[in-house]
Amino acid sequence: MSEPFLIGDTMTGGYGKGPDILHGCTIAVEKGEIAVIVGPNGAGKSTAMKAVFGMLNVHSGSVRLDGEDITALSPQDRVIKGMGFVPQVRNIFGSMTVEENLEMGAFIRNDDIKQTMEQVYELFPILRDKRNQAAGELSGGQRQQVAVGRALMTQPKVLMLDEPTAGVSPIVMDELFDRIIEVARTGIPILMVEQNARQALEIADKAYVLVQGTNAHTGTGKELLANPEVRASFLGG
Ligand SMILES: Nc1ncnc2c1ncn2[C@@H]1O[C@H](COP(=O)(O)OP(=O)(O)OP(=O)(O)O)[C@@H](O)[C@H]1O
Ligand SMILES: [Mg+2]
Repeated sequence: MSEPFLIGDTMTGGYGKGPDILHGCTIAVEKGEIAVIVGPNGAGKSTAMKAVFGMLNVHSGSVRLDGEDITALSPQDRVIKGMGFVPQVRNIFGSMTVEENLEMGAFIRNDDIKQTMEQVYELFPILRDKRNQAAGELSGGQRQQVAVGRALMTQPKVLMLDEPTAGVSPIVMDELFDRIIEVARTGIPILMVEQNARQALEIADKAYVLVQGTNAHTGTGKELLANPEVRASFLGG
């Protein structure tokens, strides 16, 4: 089997001088696929995402992108290499307009960003209507669209999303999932954390259940949906 496009491989590490949160945890995504990470609160899902993005020192294990070891790179250099990341919290600039948020997203680019902005507005039409409004005034689902749009502005080769549907209604969640699938279909692999485990596993090519900083279950979304242990522990039976 070939190397995944992006992999955080056997990562161990924590915050600063604190205890390890990740204990040999592996998450990865293949080209053309959606990989989903689920697990209980405090399992280390966000920590694993931050480790892959370089916001955390891993003292063993490695992160590789398209075959290249990027473990030592800063988050900004990982963005330059093609990684887009939407963190779980503080993922927009609330006092800036929607359009300013998108412009900020393109900070590493020196070329014309108009066409990319147009693509973001086509993906999320409501953002075009609200482009001159402060992003902080938008609804939860619209703010998440701004956050995903901002990450797309760098034209990433891979997109990492930490709980993109947090705090939105079921209808808005379905819409966001549809848009995420649409992004994946444009050829951008997606590695995402989701608290809506069942829905997430339904759209996952590959899925990881993390518990206490380690991999508890790994498989296709279908396999984990059918796994009795996963069902009992994480899907309500
Ligand atoms: N900035 C930080 N500094 C120190 N410890 C942290 C920090 N962020 C998280 N932790 C700790 O790391 C552990 C894992 O937290 P993490 O946020 O990765 O979990 P999670 O699986 O994303 O949970 P949730 O589902 O609530 O988002 C927790 O014990 C948490 O207290
Ligand atoms: Mg989290």
